[in-house]
Amino acid sequence: MRKPDLVGEKHDCEATLDDQQVMDFCRNGYLILEGVVPDKINTRVVDFLNTHDSAEPFEILTEDWFVDGVIKNPQAAGAVRSLLGKNFALPILMSNHRVHCPAPALNWHQDGGSIITSRLDYLQVFYYPEGVSREMGPTEILPGSHLQRGYGGFLSRLRSLKESVLTVSAPGTIFLTVYSIWHRRSASTATGIRNNLKYNYWRTVPPCRDWNTDPAFNFSWPDKEVPPFTVRAAQLLAWLCAEEWQHLGGQSWPCFSHSVLDKDQPGLPQGLRRDGQT
Ligand SMILES: [Fe+2]
Repeated sequence: MRKPDLVGEKHDCEATLDDQQVMDFCRNGYLILEGVVPDKINTRVVDFLNTHDSAEPFEILTEDWFVDGVIKNPQAAGAVRSLLGKNFALPILMSNHRVHCPAPALNWHQDGGSIITSRLDYLQVFYYPEGVSREMGPTEILPGSHLQRGYGGFLSRLRSLKESVLTVSAPGTIFLTVYSIWHRRSASTATGIRNNLKYNYWRTVPPCRDWNTDPAFNFSWPDKEVPPFTVRAAQLLAWLCAEEWQHLGGQSWPCFSHSVLDKDQPGLPQGLRRDGQT
């Protein structure tokens, strides 16, 4: 049994993401790690939640097997390490979005506590111990929405969104999001209980692009994306890389991808250019 107060506890481990994965996280606002927690831990978590039927089952953070298997899970913590840097702070609260299905969809929303910023100082993480099917009402998210302020009155009037993604997942799936991503619980039609644990990690050091980097990586942006979303996501990526933001507007990076050109685009931060590298 661990001491119950985890405030201030920090963790370090190998960073597992590469440049493409970090760039995609900045673009989409989320990353799904399918089935990364072993079955025997998933089963133990479900047993625990059945005996702690609460929206805040914080006692689970005092269990070594949970902290080691889920909170410090090598693939999940490796992704957190990539995005938040070394010695990131571990979760201090645990929520369970435990739903007795069938249940209707909730309204689209951003959680209270969202900060719309080009910094990434904290991460929201979800864990489905049993997985979730379409019929069990998975969390629905809108890719790329994490850097847009969505006012409550506007979001609550939205219904289906064509570009949204349902987080249908296998048991043991963990997914990371920028905290401010637009999301909702989708409607469920099956019968049973859906568990979805939610917790946060925090940055304790400045960013420095210390994940699995490739000096020759091409930072050109996929040109199908809407420029306003692209610029904000690229600003987040530049911040994570500790690069000065050199956006010039117009056809400069990241808009209007020049991936077919030999040279890097104007506006691409100096340290991300291949032109100056041998
Ligand atoms: Fe929420």
